[in-house]
Amino acid sequence: MDFSSGNAVITGGASGIGLSLADRLGEEGMTVVLVDIEEGALLAAVDGLVAKGYSAYGRICDVSDRNQVEELASGVFDEFGAVHFLANNAGVVTRHKSWESLDDWDWVLGVDLMGVIYGVHSFVPRMLESGEIGHVMNTASTAGLLAFPSIGSYNVAKRGVVALTETLHHELKGTPITASVLCPGMVDTNIHWSERNRQGVASPSEMGSAGVGNKEELSPSEVANVVVESIRNGIFWILPHTHYGEQALEQAKRRVEGGPPVLPFVDR
Ligand SMILES: NC(=O)c1ccc[n+]([C@@H]2O[C@H](COP(=O)([O-])OP(=O)(O)OC[C@H]3O[C@@H](n4cnc5c(N)ncnc54)[C@H](O)[C@@H]3O)[C@@H](O)[C@H]2O)c1
Repeated sequence: MDFSSGNAVITGGASGIGLSLADRLGEEGMTVVLVDIEEGALLAAVDGLVAKGYSAYGRICDVSDRNQVEELASGVFDEFGAVHFLANNAGVVTRHKSWESLDDWDWVLGVDLMGVIYGVHSFVPRMLESGEIGHVMNTASTAGLLAFPSIGSYNVAKRGVVALTETLHHELKGTPITASVLCPGMVDTNIHWSERNRQGVASPSEMGSAGVGNKEELSPSEVANVVVESIRNGIFWILPHTHYGEQALEQAKRRVEGGPPVLPFVDR
């Protein structure tokens, strides 16, 4: 994968990991199309990248709406001709017990899982048709490998993203497109403030960030650097926090033994 030219589309590009990735890819030489639901943040993000001399564009889109994602893909291919890097990265999280609020389940699965499915559905056929070398990176989480209590909808969505990306990897064999899945632990972003983008929520609540002050917390730009270097080296499982890989291994052993699931821990 050559990051020195071509076009990148990054959902959730107005903040956090998506914005840092856009910054890194812009620096590398790609044209970046930032996609987001939050208009003010998106405009500011694009302005910031353009001010650095990068080729950056913004597109408003709610990734949980299949028609909007299809329109996005059609518009981007019409305007830019091809997409070489797709990051299905937009995501939200909220706390609830598994038996609580179906609205929470709908919202989180809509953005974090269906958003990625729609991205794959609308972009991959067009990428394949162009015949050009490309890459699809889906952002999951360590929650895609291990189930943390009180964020069941997030765990289910992210495990779905992991399964989807593994499937995609097999299905893309023999094509010019490769895939990878990003599974970070704590990253210093606005994720704990996800409700700012939730329709129908008048006063968004902040879910306490479990990441603040934890040893393992990385900056989004550190994660963006890991992403670029990992994809360059053909790595499928992008795990910026290695201790979760060890926990996932322990989990796999327990599965074979039939033992109860591992309770994941954050490196404090
Ligand atoms: N921050 C962490 O600790 C962490 C850990 C593991 C995985 N992740 C994942 O990383 C990804 C990026 O999150 P982040 O941490 O940078 O958070 P963030 O809140 O800083 O960025 C997420 C972006 O997604 C956008 N977004 C939300 N709903 C959307 C929708 N319906 N359509 C389009 N855009 C939408 C937001 O406006 C925001 O710009 C997410 O998928 C998240 O689950 C984050």
